[in-house]
Amino acid sequence: AHRFAVFGHPIAHTLSPEIHRAFAAQCGIRLSYEAIDATPEQFPEAVRRFFAEGGLGANVTLPHKGAACLLADEHTAMAGRCGTANVLTPLVGGRIEAHNTDGDGMVRDITERHSLDLRGHNALLLGAGGAARGVAWALMDAGVDTLTIVNRSPEKADELADAIGEPERAHTRYWEDLANLGSFDLIVNATSAGVVGGGLDLPTHLVGNRALCYDLCYGAAASGFVGWAKAAHAKYIHDGLGMLIETAADAFERWHGRRPDTDPVYAVLRERYG
Ligand code: ATR
Repeated sequence: AHRFAVFGHPIAHTLSPEIHRAFAAQCGIRLSYEAIDATPEQFPEAVRRFFAEGGLGANVTLPHKGAACLLADEHTAMAGRCGTANVLTPLVGGRIEAHNTDGDGMVRDITERHSLDLRGHNALLLGAGGAARGVAWALMDAGVDTLTIVNRSPEKADELADAIGEPERAHTRYWEDLANLGSFDLIVNATSAGVVGGGLDLPTHLVGNRALCYDLCYGAAASGFVGWAKAAHAKYIHDGLGMLIETAADAFERWHGRRPDTDPVYAVLRERYG
């Protein structure tokens, strides 16, 4: 069968094989999709071997998204801007193309699945690591009015704002200044605090009266931020489960030329993750 895989470390709890198999079943496509655990040291070699042995596409998750972008020979516009990649595709002659579907997947989850508008919103992006870079440009493209980037280490936030290069729309504030900022219409948690453990201790006044609070993670990793958003009475609160499925659908379409229906897959996984 045609071989696909997701690379990560750890990778045991990944949903990607299940999602891709469900899409394949929908479309009547035969494929194998495995989860490959590779340490950062092993990752570049493991990817090259996978493609040399006939692999037709790879998803990449933590902590390899930056390395995936670096090892690729070609980059889509989105991967080039973000500097991180979650989709690798083999090209003729053994070359590898990097692409990033995280931002588009998140925006589609928000605007289509949840029918929420992003245009004209004042957005707060918490974090400036790989996850934040993966979604920042898509938020700008979706028409947010302003993007305020706040990161514990301010230099990484400045670097991201500089890379976006629209100082009147995308700017940074210090983490310590969160206490003095006004409210936002969109608050995106792109920190890894929920993954690595450690609370964020955010002031509730950040949540505006029509605000959407969105965590890029799902399940236990999102529970701290989601709990905070509930306590702050956010009007809309969503975790990143829908985003994960939308990003998978974009990769699937890239590889198979078919657009899967994400709704039934979302229904099954939402039931499981609450
Ligand atoms: P990822 O790929 O998940 O983005 P990353 O590139 O290591 O992983 O970035 C992690 C992000 O979470 C960073 O923005 C990090 O802040 P620093 O740049 O200051 O390290 C942020 N982060 C992690 N734990 C945090 C915590 N307890 N409080 C605030 N920010 C945190």
